[in-house]
Amino acid sequence: MSVNMNPMHWDELSKAQKYEKIHTQWTGLMDPSVDAVANLANACALLKEAFGWWWIGFYRKINDSLVLGPFQGPVACTTIGYGKGVCGTSWKESRTLLVEDVESFPGHIACSAASKSEIVVPLWRKDGSFWGVLDVDSEHLAHFDTLDQIELEKFCRSLEIILS
Ligand code: SME
Repeated sequence: MSVNMNPMHWDELSKAQKYEKIHTQWTGLMDPSVDAVANLANACALLKEAFGWWWIGFYRKINDSLVLGPFQGPVACTTIGYGKGVCGTSWKESRTLLVEDVESFPGHIACSAASKSEIVVPLWRKDGSFWGVLDVDSEHLAHFDTLDQIELEKFCRSLEIILS
């Protein structure tokens, strides 16, 4: 793992450039010798620093629920059931959900009234078992697009080696 102490000027980069930079930085930052919590905490910090999203974090599958993991942003609900909210639906349907307006998503769980749009990406371990989800919220409507989906799915695939 190498921590780059040089300040990044994220604001000067396009969305595509930010993702490119993130993938490069993450390759140096990810540390398979420590546990998932340490790595996912850094993953949240890196993405938050680059994009300034309202909320970014992980929910881990523990028994029959998703339980709050490392995150950056305001406090959030601690457990989400299978098929509940955007996160639980992503788990149930085993696919990324891109929600342009959270109010139009039946059963959306509002951890924060400021959240307007959301993307949830499921994560699997190397052996193919379901691990949990990455959840990103924005205070702007329709903030996420297909590029976010493609790049966040790629980022999540790069995490599989540190998920236990
Ligand atoms: N909105 C999510 C709940 C988690 S918070 O956004 C952090 C959902 O509907 O699953």
